[in-house]
Amino acid sequence: MAGILGLGGYVPERVMSNDDWAALVDTTDEWITARTGIKRRRFASDDESTLDMAAAAAELAIKDADLSPADIGEIIVATDTPELYLPDTSSLLQDRLGCGNVPTYDLGGSGCAGFVQALDVARARIQFAPRKVLVVGVELISRLMSWKSRATCVLFGDAAGAVVMGPGEAKAEVLDVVTGTDGSKADILTLRTGGTRHPFSIDAAKTEAHRNIEMHGREVFREAVLRMSSAVTDVLRRIGKSVADVALVVPHQANKRIIDAVRKRLGVAEESVYVNVEEYGNTGSASVPFALWEAHQTGRINAGDLVVLTAFGAGFHWAAAAVQF
Ligand SMILES: CC(C)(COP(=O)(O)OP(=O)(O)OC[C@H]1O[C@@H](n2cnc3c(N)ncnc32)[C@H](O)[C@@H]1OP(=O)(O)O)[C@@H](O)C(=O)NCCC(=O)NCCS
Repeated sequence: MAGILGLGGYVPERVMSNDDWAALVDTTDEWITARTGIKRRRFASDDESTLDMAAAAAELAIKDADLSPADIGEIIVATDTPELYLPDTSSLLQDRLGCGNVPTYDLGGSGCAGFVQALDVARARIQFAPRKVLVVGVELISRLMSWKSRATCVLFGDAAGAVVMGPGEAKAEVLDVVTGTDGSKADILTLRTGGTRHPFSIDAAKTEAHRNIEMHGREVFREAVLRMSSAVTDVLRRIGKSVADVALVVPHQANKRIIDAVRKRLGVAEESVYVNVEEYGNTGSASVPFALWEAHQTGRINAGDLVVLTAFGAGFHWAAAAVQF
């Protein structure tokens, strides 16, 4: 079975408050707080990059696992905001950490579901060929999003989270993971410019089309609630447990109202759901691993706890993982 051997997380120091956004776009602290529960988020400094953030979280996770980079046998990086267009961030991370010539790959474009999907891939890889797999979720979205579109810019923040998975002495076992995708809902959350259908152009740059995340907010909200709650129910059914057995749900931190709706649908007590969206906003693929790391660091997770991770993202993808500490 694949276990979690170590955890790590990183957020940049710079804090961007709702009032800071209100000074730049037509919004208010009241609107953002009421609709999303977000009060602050962290933004990378000008000399920080996706790779720096990924490396910071990865180094902590490797140390927490009592391992060295040379022990890592494979690397998966989930991100929609890579260091470069080519090559992938995982290649650069392998070199930065000094992991040797182990296989690496990025999982991109699946929005905020990327990390839990990557966890599932890592778990399958370990069962096929036992090895220590570094799984990173990282997002430096502040540099790639539009700073003019109030409908989206206020939602996001930068962060990184990482786990080392493998056979051996584990802090937690990943009991099961469910994942799913509804490609017919691809258009509810998109960034259209930059690919082959709409290549990057001077005209696109002038209108900032290459930074324009188009979101049907209400539909994303509805799908997120439906899919995360059913993914949690499914993964619990598969391991023969119920929500009453769950010590902590760690959901993707997109919006407090989404988290509350999932909690109510599942019938989980408020204290059994980890929430840090107020402090960090939506950090994409970093959201779940960073929240898991923070919950573990701050004593919200204890030995013996059954923890369920769940996420959704552009695609439309969803996933849930049952993790026994
Ligand atoms: C985005 C979201 C908070 C918007 O809330 P909503 O209740 O659906 O609000 P609407 O989109 O209907 O917008 C209501 C009004 O607020 C306005 N508005 C949008 N962003 C605003 C902002 N930052 N400040 C002030 N007003 C804003 C809209 O222009 C609209 O005005 P109008 O009625 O005059 O047209 C909500 O839909 C949501 O959380 N969706 C899920 C998003 C998500 O999780 N995305 C991440 C995916 S990983």
